[in-house]
Amino acid sequence: MTETVKVAKGLEGVVAEATRLSDVQGDIGRLLYRGYDINDLAANSTFEETVYLLWYGNLPTQTQLDAFRAELAAQRALSADVIAEMKMYPRDATPMDVLRTVVSSLGARDTTKGDAATLAPQQALPLTAQMATIAAAWNAIRNQREPVAPRADLNHAANFLYMLTGHEPDPRAARIIDTALVLHADHSLNASTFVARSIASTLSDLYSAIVGALAALKGPLHGGANEAVMRTLLKIGSVEGVEPYVNDAFAHKGKVMGFGHRVYRANDPRAEYLRKIAQDAAHVSGNDLWFTMQEKMRAAVQARKNLPVNVDFYSASVYYSLAIPIDMFTPVFAVSRIAGWTAHVLEQYADNRIVRPDALYVGARDLSYVPIQER
Ligand SMILES: CC(C)(COP(=O)(O)OP(=O)(O)OC[C@H]1O[C@@H](n2cnc3c(N)ncnc32)[C@H](O)[C@@H]1OP(=O)(O)O)[C@@H](O)C(=O)NCCC(=O)NCCS
Repeated sequence: MTETVKVAKGLEGVVAEATRLSDVQGDIGRLLYRGYDINDLAANSTFEETVYLLWYGNLPTQTQLDAFRAELAAQRALSADVIAEMKMYPRDATPMDVLRTVVSSLGARDTTKGDAATLAPQQALPLTAQMATIAAAWNAIRNQREPVAPRADLNHAANFLYMLTGHEPDPRAARIIDTALVLHADHSLNASTFVARSIASTLSDLYSAIVGALAALKGPLHGGANEAVMRTLLKIGSVEGVEPYVNDAFAHKGKVMGFGHRVYRANDPRAEYLRKIAQDAAHVSGNDLWFTMQEKMRAAVQARKNLPVNVDFYSASVYYSLAIPIDMFTPVFAVSRIAGWTAHVLEQYADNRIVRPDALYVGARDLSYVPIQER
């Protein structure tokens, strides 16, 4: 390949796949799952219904949804072997590293996993159900507690909070998490989904694709940003500190976490939805410090550059107000995004071609091999 070829750094603008799952309309700040506006789904749907929609392409009837919820709930528990294995991990292992490791372990243990050509949505049920259980179990184990066994009578979001805290959650808190799970469930070819599809495109198995997706999600430029946002707010610590922080970041060409997006140029509709939740959470808790700082930060950043707030910005203060540990924020993202990853892997298998882009070679050429004793 000649050096006149232009490299699409970060694959910007490259249309690498066709998808029927989500439609990201970056110019007008709109997001649809299977044709349904994310605002409608966030207001009216549940995580279970959204998973069904993504996997099967249509909203379920009540009977279908009841059956699907029961199937998902029945798959939540981790085996005693897996829990015992997790107890051997170093207690300071990060929750994202543990999620990735346990999914890999589950893959090694599942000797009946079918081949790519015949993968059905049912085979994605255990991983989708268990992502929440793994995350909550690790939070217990690292704090020297026994993991809380899942309850099948609670919905996915409520059960996740129940396993995290050991208490049946306030219905408002459970609804906030359910809404967050709906909002994070899919987002076209983001980095982790692209990784999952690339792995699937080799006809590797579902677990392997999800291990890769988790590895990509944890990075601070992707799902890890929600943790970074909260750490930044805590470090600044006051409304007055926001302006100097943003000034300094721009002066040193640093990134302000929670801002910017490859596709959204105006608004990220998920962030706008989460903003309302963050505002309500501040009102209900009587502590509006984080939300006020975020509003100030948004104004300060946007006065300098037209960067949208992204999904990780307000989710940070929402999760913090629910007393979720900061390093569990990205796992909450994973508990949701497993829906999209699995849907994309199924879509990839259904119409596959191996992912294999080109690279422009810019290194040396025609060098003569020098024997080692002459170097
Ligand atoms: C999301 C993100 C990775 C997208 O990256 P990208 O599409 O490659 O965008 P770029 O890095 O090319 O950004 C374009 C310009 O805006 C600036 N910019 C982008 N995000 C910024 C941020 N969060 N803070 C400050 N400046 C930012 C870049 O420095 C660049 O400036 P330049 O043109 O002077 O070089 C990037 O915006 C980012 O790192 N954001 C912070 C992390 C984050 O919140 N991630 C969650 C994403 S949902």
